[in-house]
Amino acid sequence: MKKRIAYDDAVDLLDADHKAVKKMFIDHAALCEAGAPAATKRLLTQRICQALTMHAQLEEEIFYPQVRKAIGDDALMDEALQQHAAAKEIIALLVSKKTPDTGLDAAVKQLGMLIDLHVLEEREVIFLQARRAALDLRGMTLPLLKRRQQLKKQADALSAQEAA
Ligand SMILES: [Fe+2]
Ligand SMILES: [Fe+2]
Repeated sequence: MKKRIAYDDAVDLLDADHKAVKKMFIDHAALCEAGAPAATKRLLTQRICQALTMHAQLEEEIFYPQVRKAIGDDALMDEALQQHAAAKEIIALLVSKKTPDTGLDAAVKQLGMLIDLHVLEEREVIFLQARRAALDLRGMTLPLLKRRQQLKKQADALSAQEAA
């Protein structure tokens, strides 16, 4: 029997990522509010950064190039890439073990706000245009899932290495 894919199409899959990461940002804010230990917050921060890095890579490798080709709006897609680049700068700071605990909470909050804006733009402009364009969004789901599995394996292997 063919395995059922849990997502309607590429947009549905990517937006599920958005929701999952938003939940992690909310959890992080709750930890800050509750005065949780820095180590607990760092652990969640690493998960947020890993999820965002993987998500951005999926979009940049598979989704964005096809959308760019279909809608022909280079300015829009370049702007999205710039937003990814800005997020990656903060992520680099957050994943560095050299970054002191002080200031981390503020940086996570800043990243969360940046991602909120970016997701809004994806949902209200890029996703809508992708759905209107002659794009096989359903057909894109499986390549996205496969690439995500690959990236997850790589990331897990890397964290196992670091833990060893
Ligand atoms: Fe994005
Ligand atoms: Fe996204």
